[in-house]
Amino acid sequence: MPTETVYGLAANAADPLAVAAVYAAKGRPSFNPLIAHVADLAAATAIAVLDERALALAAAFWPGPLTIVAPIADEAAVCDLARAGLDTVAVRVPAHPLAHALLAAFGGPVVAPSANVSGRPSPTTLEDAIAETGSFAAVWLDGGPCQIGLESTVVSVLPGEPVRMLRPGGVTRGELDTIVGPLAEAEADARRSPGRLTRHYAPNAPLRLDASAAGVGEVFIGFGAGRDCDLNLSASGDLAEAAANLFSALRAADHLRPAAIAIAPIPLTGLGEAINDRLRRAAGFVG
Ligand code: TXA
Ligand code: MG
Repeated sequence: MPTETVYGLAANAADPLAVAAVYAAKGRPSFNPLIAHVADLAAATAIAVLDERALALAAAFWPGPLTIVAPIADEAAVCDLARAGLDTVAVRVPAHPLAHALLAAFGGPVVAPSANVSGRPSPTTLEDAIAETGSFAAVWLDGGPCQIGLESTVVSVLPGEPVRMLRPGGVTRGELDTIVGPLAEAEADARRSPGRLTRHYAPNAPLRLDASAAGVGEVFIGFGAGRDCDLNLSASGDLAEAAANLFSALRAADHLRPAAIAIAPIPLTGLGEAINDRLRRAAGFVG
């Protein structure tokens, strides 16, 4: 299933066998819960308890690249396995027209983790999605290249807790702050933010961050003008363009079978927070 962020491997959220097949295709640890995708706000409120803060976020960013973790309202609609046994559910209304059409036609929540094998870069084209997990899919929907290219931002909105950012993504911290004030950080406890595995989004070649040039045998991915690089995330230094190109650039660099992939520093502002998060995880630095 295409979405505006990345391609997803989609399954009926209510069907534990279908959900188990998704975990198996990705080789994903089953303690890492999935996002339930729905067509609109009404469908979201049927499965999740959305308080005033969550509703304000939904009004501002849905449909779009924001995932809200909230208490589960309908345990059958999003099965235990999809939630990894948690009493919360991650819900998102994607903006891609084909995703919307699929969700509206199906009528129930659809889990869709990024369609990569666990630990690998997320696919941003149908071709990359097929190369990752296509052999497990019954049907492929071609929605063209993903516009955003980075996964959704995940926030938790739980009773008695501040709104927390669990994963940076397509909606920036600055955009969220304007709706719900300064965000709290995810708790250190890994079970509350289970998506944060050490090596994630990783190409086969090792990744060297904040590089200024290619070393021997390295492919160099640049950012901004004036760099002598093999691939450039954005020659004009545009972070949205860099986000859209990130995972396909990592794949393209990997196809050259380099000793390592060197990548230029990316500013931490705006979408740069999510880009740097993915790069640090791809390099294996973040627990
Ligand atoms: O943009 C996206 O979000 C893409 C597209 C396909 O929609 N999907 C995606 O799904 O990135 P996935 O499964 O790769 O990432 C889901 C993230 C993980 O970090 C997971 O730990 C977190 O959401 N998550 C899901 N349910 C949660 C919950 N109940 N509590 C905390 N985190 C949760
Ligand atoms: Mg993923």
